[in-house]
Amino acid sequence: MKVTVIGSGYVGLIAALGFGIKNNKVICVDKNKEKIKNLKKGIPIIYEKELDNYLKKCIEDKKITFSTDIKKGIRESNIIFIAVGTPPLNNGEVDMTQVKEVIRDISKYINEYKVVVNKSTVPIGTQKYMKRMLNNEGISNEYFDVVSNPEFLREGKAFEDFFNTDRIVIGYDSEKAKGVMGKLYKNFNRKIVYTNPETAELIKYASNGFLATKISFINEIANLCDEIGGNVEDISYALGLDKRISPLFLNAGIGFGGSCFPKDTKALVKIGEKYGVDFNIIKSTINVNNKQRIIPIKKLLNYYKDISGKIISVLGLTFKPGTDDIRESPAIYIINELIKNKAKVKCYDPNVSKTIKDKYPQIEYCNNLYDTFTNSSCAIFCTEWEEFSKLDLFKLKAKMKEPLIIDGRNIFNYEHIKKAKIKYFAIGRGYI
Ligand SMILES: NC(=O)c1ccc[n+]([C@@H]2O[C@H](COP(=O)([O-])OP(=O)(O)OC[C@H]3O[C@@H](n4cnc5c(N)ncnc54)[C@H](O)[C@@H]3O)[C@@H](O)[C@H]2O)c1
Repeated sequence: MKVTVIGSGYVGLIAALGFGIKNNKVICVDKNKEKIKNLKKGIPIIYEKELDNYLKKCIEDKKITFSTDIKKGIRESNIIFIAVGTPPLNNGEVDMTQVKEVIRDISKYINEYKVVVNKSTVPIGTQKYMKRMLNNEGISNEYFDVVSNPEFLREGKAFEDFFNTDRIVIGYDSEKAKGVMGKLYKNFNRKIVYTNPETAELIKYASNGFLATKISFINEIANLCDEIGGNVEDISYALGLDKRISPLFLNAGIGFGGSCFPKDTKALVKIGEKYGVDFNIIKSTINVNNKQRIIPIKKLLNYYKDISGKIISVLGLTFKPGTDDIRESPAIYIINELIKNKAKVKCYDPNVSKTIKDKYPQIEYCNNLYDTFTNSSCAIFCTEWEEFSKLDLFKLKAKMKEPLIIDGRNIFNYEHIKKAKIKYFAIGRGYI
């Protein structure tokens, strides 16, 4: 089938390549010229496992073309995916500017029947709003259908999730569009949930809200473990053995970040407010997370009282491993607190360099992992990158001024820490 994806970010690019791999002819559009220039040359613009291979394969097999020409993208395909950003506004509502811009472009260039598919995470009622917008721009209903098809992929496992998703959700209000979407996804062999557009839009928020709640829940249990001498990892394991609960999203730590959970939980509260529904659970999920992400600072100040002038190492900047995304990463909140407390910050991340250097010129960015520990009074681990778990703790200790680790992701085996004689605080390992 002929598919255009508008917006080549974390979601759009993966979807475009995914549909290419599934034998469709794809045009991947973005208004960012630099991105398109690099993609045309086969240069991955984000870090994601397998991205370079899929990019190379789709280009070689002529399954994908990259373009900044939105008119061409709209005219030459029958299915137009919208995968642009929907960032939060200051008040927590969703900024729909990018989506509206694409709809205006579609209305300008549409020349025959198209299925317009919204993949961006958008407030409930957006499908109807998009239809109204197209009608208001003079496009009559026989020229288009609008479908809601939210995306559930996780950065770091994006292709795995895209191809093997637990479910494909399609919110439709026309049998013709349902048929087109069914055909597009036929060879994915995944469960498809067909529903109305409002429900599809809400499924995305319900899903992210629930997962975020699971994380905040286990983090509160972890905080209690720290007080009572409990072991949150045993609790997560025991909970996860219960099939009704599932073991996923039960890792205690310094909370969730990234471009989805923080913004989608806030948006869900706002959507609830609009319809008179007070989302107490989600509000608490957000509050718990806001406190959780700076728990290392609480532990650090408890230990030292004053950290001004001390070198503090921050290990891991991305909100999770396997990505280069630092949006809403707990590490960023920790760095801000360290700066506020006048510590000298040294940081390291295997995937992030330039972005953080531009944002925080006052912090020292190390290209070598072990250099990060030189003369440091504390190493705070914020992301569970695999290379951290393999660290030589004796070498780390020898470099540090005062050997203290705050393990925000419960990365280290406590027996190894004990052998190296390093002072150690973790999350919910109150038995230590
Ligand atoms: N990142 C994730 O893990 C994830 C997962 C599921 C759903 N989502 C949702 O998917 C959507 C996209 O997220 P993302 O992380 O890929 O965003 P992103 O910011 O990485 O990418 C958006 C892209 O759209 C482009 N763009 C913006 N306006 C455009 C226009 N008018 N024409 C052409 N291109 C335009 C931007 O240049 C950018 O490259 C959001 O609604 C997000 O909530 C994201």
